[in-house]
Amino acid sequence: MSDPLLQMSGIVKAFPGVRALDGVDLEVRAGEVHCLLGQNGAGKSTLIKVLSGAHQPDEGEIRWQGEEIRLTTPLSAMKHGIATIYQELDLVDGLTVAENIYLGHELSSAGFAHRGETQKQAAALLARLGHSEISPRRELGTLSAAGKQVVSMARALSHDVKLIIMDEPSAVLDQEEVARLFKVIRDLQSEGVAVVYISHRLEEIRQVGDRVTVLKDGRTVATGLPARDTPTRELTRLMTGRDIEYVFPPRVSRDGDGTVVLSVENLASGRAFSGVDFEVRAGEIVGLAGLVGSGRSEILETIYGARRATAGTVTVDGKQLRNGRVRAAVGAGVGLCPEERKSQGLLLDEAVYRNVSLATMGRFSRGGFINRGSEKRAASEHVKSLDVRPTGVERAVRTLSGGNQQKVVLARWLLRECRVLLLDEPTRGVDVGARSEIYALVRRLADEGVAVVLVSSEVPEVLGLADRVLVLREGVVVHTGPADDIDEHRVLDLVMEGSAA
Ligand SMILES: Nc1ncnc2c1ncn2[C@@H]1O[C@H](COP(=O)(O)OP(=O)(O)OP(=O)(O)O)[C@@H](O)[C@H]1O
Ligand SMILES: [Mg+2]
Repeated sequence: MSDPLLQMSGIVKAFPGVRALDGVDLEVRAGEVHCLLGQNGAGKSTLIKVLSGAHQPDEGEIRWQGEEIRLTTPLSAMKHGIATIYQELDLVDGLTVAENIYLGHELSSAGFAHRGETQKQAAALLARLGHSEISPRRELGTLSAAGKQVVSMARALSHDVKLIIMDEPSAVLDQEEVARLFKVIRDLQSEGVAVVYISHRLEEIRQVGDRVTVLKDGRTVATGLPARDTPTRELTRLMTGRDIEYVFPPRVSRDGDGTVVLSVENLASGRAFSGVDFEVRAGEIVGLAGLVGSGRSEILETIYGARRATAGTVTVDGKQLRNGRVRAAVGAGVGLCPEERKSQGLLLDEAVYRNVSLATMGRFSRGGFINRGSEKRAASEHVKSLDVRPTGVERAVRTLSGGNQQKVVLARWLLRECRVLLLDEPTRGVDVGARSEIYALVRRLADEGVAVVLVSSEVPEVLGLADRVLVLREGVVVHTGPADDIDEHRVLDLVMEGSAA
């Protein structure tokens, strides 16, 4: 048999106070989809940053097509045909789509100048990815998170690649887009391109993966496992070192006994959505299901006042909120944990506890002084209940892994005592172990009387956690009812066709 495409062995990478990689081995064959699994903070992103030339390893060897190589810069990785789609996309909002795709290797530098050519080639790449609706001339900042990711993929394909690394690409995609992504991956595979795929969703690993390597605490604990046939129990045990019961907290049947806290009537916002009516009682979790772009996130933003309603009203505890005023909503006890958490307010260089207490500062200050002790204690408690790692709250958020950063923002919103909590994709990027903690916490908040509205692209999550479900399609509610009365297939049918199947 021929040499594997890539062999990494004994890779070590230490940061001050953490050995992020402590002897990792990884072997990837040409044309395979190799999945990298591991809990938040296991070292996945660090490993791929070593492979993409962004980090220099302290020890270890990398062999590429049988020969030892050193990847000293991202450019050297690219020259070997290794492209990376990072967990935190590294694109520039102010530039156009085409400019982003060719950033750093502009066609002009190769002699044949011109915008025209760049745009033509960019358009061809976008079409190859099944997204010809994205114009190369469009400004990147106007695209959704999913759109930006497509651009990032197009950029990877603009090189002659042999290996594409994807760090949690599906975290910003809905089911339809994931299916599209998988088609692209299979096409690449048939051209002999290898993919290293990172995801916290095991069902994706089964669908698209060939082999699996599991990392735990910076070490390879298993490698070369068959992606389709390795039992889930075994995978989660390898990842977490324990058996995980992946369960949703039980619903309390309350038969409409709670008082109505949030009432949304005939709400509309431009072309995003219209005619939306629902109520959420104290103790109730209402889930919104639908595709990306169906208006789910926009509804939350409108309730929160971050987006103006063009019709209808939002009422909290009997008081109508002023349209388009975040301050009014916050004053009435509404909290929004947004979908794009990173861009919406993590202070990366500040300590974990400060990031958690940011929205609740008032509670910890007296006469202009902040009581740091109680601020830290309150933050620590939430950080602990969400299993943020490493546990120290003094650390700068920048040094946490992607999933752990997500948990910090979530902790912030959970610490704030809200009447209405709007959660947009609360478990995105969060590993199997911590998910159950988040579900339990959301249910506990509801039990304490909070009205919760949950948006998630994962239909099982909506059905498992919510009491009542609204299904949206193109900005219109096409179904409302108890979560127990509907199953995943029905939701998907509604989401796609908008009519009962
Ligand atoms: N620049 C840095 N400085 C200090 N520590 C870091 C830095 N980058 C990563 N770490 C630490 O290295 C460890 C591995 O982080 P990494 O981002 O590789 O995890 P991951 O497996 O990608 O997790 P996730 O699933 O949450 O994305 C974590 O403990 C993290 O806090
Ligand atoms: Mg990561």
